[in-house]
Amino acid sequence: MIFFITLGDSNIKIQHKKFQQMSNYHIKHLEEYFQIHRKSVRNPEGFWEEVAEEHFIWRKRWDKVLSWDFKKPEVKWFEGAKLNITENCIDRHLRIRGDKTAILFEPNDPSEEAEHISYQQLYERVNQFANVLKDQGINKGDRVCIYLPMIPELAISTLACARIGAIHSVVFAGFSATALATRINDSDCKMVIASDGSYRGSKTIDLKGIVDDALEECPGVETVLVAKRINSDIKMKEGRDKWLQPLLEEALTECEPEIMDAEDPLFILYTSGSTGMPKGMVHTTAGYMVYTAYTFKNVFQYRENDVYWCTADIGWITGHSYIVYGPLANGATTVMFEGVPNYPDWGRFWEVVAKHKVTQFYTAPTAIRALAKENLECVEKHDLSSLKVLGSVGEPINEEAWHWYNDNVGKKKSPIVDTWWQTETGGIMISPIPYLTPTKPTYATFPLPGIQLSLMDENGKEIKDNQVDGRLCIKFPWPSMARTIWGNHKRYKDTYFSTYENQYFTGDGALRDEVGYYRITGRVDDVIIVSGHNLGTAPIEDAINEHQAVAESAIVGFPHDIKGNALYGYVILKESGESRNHDNLRKEINQIITEHIGPIAKLDKIQFTSGLPKTRSGKIMRRILRKIACSETDNLGDTSTLLNPEVVQEIMDNVL
Ligand code: PRX
Repeated sequence: MIFFITLGDSNIKIQHKKFQQMSNYHIKHLEEYFQIHRKSVRNPEGFWEEVAEEHFIWRKRWDKVLSWDFKKPEVKWFEGAKLNITENCIDRHLRIRGDKTAILFEPNDPSEEAEHISYQQLYERVNQFANVLKDQGINKGDRVCIYLPMIPELAISTLACARIGAIHSVVFAGFSATALATRINDSDCKMVIASDGSYRGSKTIDLKGIVDDALEECPGVETVLVAKRINSDIKMKEGRDKWLQPLLEEALTECEPEIMDAEDPLFILYTSGSTGMPKGMVHTTAGYMVYTAYTFKNVFQYRENDVYWCTADIGWITGHSYIVYGPLANGATTVMFEGVPNYPDWGRFWEVVAKHKVTQFYTAPTAIRALAKENLECVEKHDLSSLKVLGSVGEPINEEAWHWYNDNVGKKKSPIVDTWWQTETGGIMISPIPYLTPTKPTYATFPLPGIQLSLMDENGKEIKDNQVDGRLCIKFPWPSMARTIWGNHKRYKDTYFSTYENQYFTGDGALRDEVGYYRITGRVDDVIIVSGHNLGTAPIEDAINEHQAVAESAIVGFPHDIKGNALYGYVILKESGESRNHDNLRKEINQIITEHIGPIAKLDKIQFTSGLPKTRSGKIMRRILRKIACSETDNLGDTSTLLNPEVVQEIMDNVL
């Protein structure tokens, strides 16, 4: 299955000198990229129709490829089409790939055997799970929260929901009880699928305990299905909690797929916003399927016998699109890894690559930076010769990490695809095509076919030149864009479509170089990316302000060797807190954050201060706080217009 559509002879010449150093072979292929991209811009409907026609099973063909209006905003792809995504991800592979491994599960403990789940077995297990969901009263359109570690049941339960048309809402199993409850209630989930616990390196985590705490606040949840993973002694609430295994054993291995409309919701996935509640991004069926399948195939250049491994958790969009749906829609073998990079030692990733002869490896810069700090022997003692493509996602990859990855993992032979995208975009938007686009460290390079980017200036005008900085927007719809925020369409409009007219605003800044390559420079709003995870500052500040000794707080990011960014908190204490031991207070503040959000949002530094720099209208000047935390105090800008300029000196004197 080759997705790239080949056109006739090229009339586009690659003129830039950068490209003229390339071999004829590469030039020919890069020209092909330009042709395809041009074609996708000239006739987006025709372009996506061709992809959709050739590679999927449709129960009914679409009446219209696209209708859209960024003002409302409303976007519909393949309207009128009927399909089930699991038929495309599983059933249609059975005839030719029934025995091929679909999911290769590598457990936390390397002495436990890996599990190869074939397409036939996946079919049976998804159908059994789907039948259990139905027996437990789940219908099309119901929301099911999945709170599971990286075990096969996680992928299987998402597919089982999709099989019967239920909307899954996977919550990363590192979130706290409060964060879980917020997400369950926001989308009125009727059911939670969880496990007794999880393994994380040498530790075990009591997941069911977290679910029990969360459900104290969730009256709408009728059933909890519990998978056994760590065999711990847990409490089961009579009438509500049910062991999954016995139910699965009794269920039939056939379940007719629910026939869905193209625009029926497939899943909700929460992502942090700069303010308020997490946003439940809604992804719909047909467009998401077409786009994730297309981008998986092209960005990873997947070939039939490859073994593809993405180290993300399915609790994030990367796992949804590029562990589950994209790979399975291509009939690929996708590795699911339960463990962590440093257990039993820092060679674990490479041991797994060697053991399963992984061909495509996709991870986050934060993991690369952590691995690069360790002894090179951890990498060198493993045979990595199977690798063909290396991927990076989630945050900017710095030059040092890029070279370490390229030299020591790819041995300068496997191209690095630095893929830029978001929970909201559903799939990869900017990325090199391996063996085709010349890579450049820290640059995600060109938009994929079908993606029309723009850089906007601060006055809302599009910047047409190259070698410029701007705010990254997308000016034309693509099939996998999130259609709304669950229960809050106004927020969807305000967040993404109100900053610039007729543009989707990503919230990121970007630079375009002389040949048109894009480099993402980071968030331009109050979202901070820590270890590749999106964290809004406002929810963390709200959590801190719950501490009875805290009057006010402000969070900013500062550079961190491994995490990319870490969090710096400035905290004003109430009088009652003034005399308290500051180290104890720091611990308590981080404890509150852990309870409200999860350990990923803990602060690295907490500075107590008597005030925060504010404008005369009372707005905290985060720009100044950010510069102080980043030790960039040479150029703080004009502070004289502040309501309380004297506080800036105090903060600088006591910076941590
Ligand atoms: O700031 C960008 C950053 O991650 C944000 C999206 O985060 P999330 O929705 O959690 O999705 C992460 C996985 C797709 C973006 O707005 N980001 C993502 N990939 C890159 C990146 N920044 C720079 N380079 C990337 N390759």
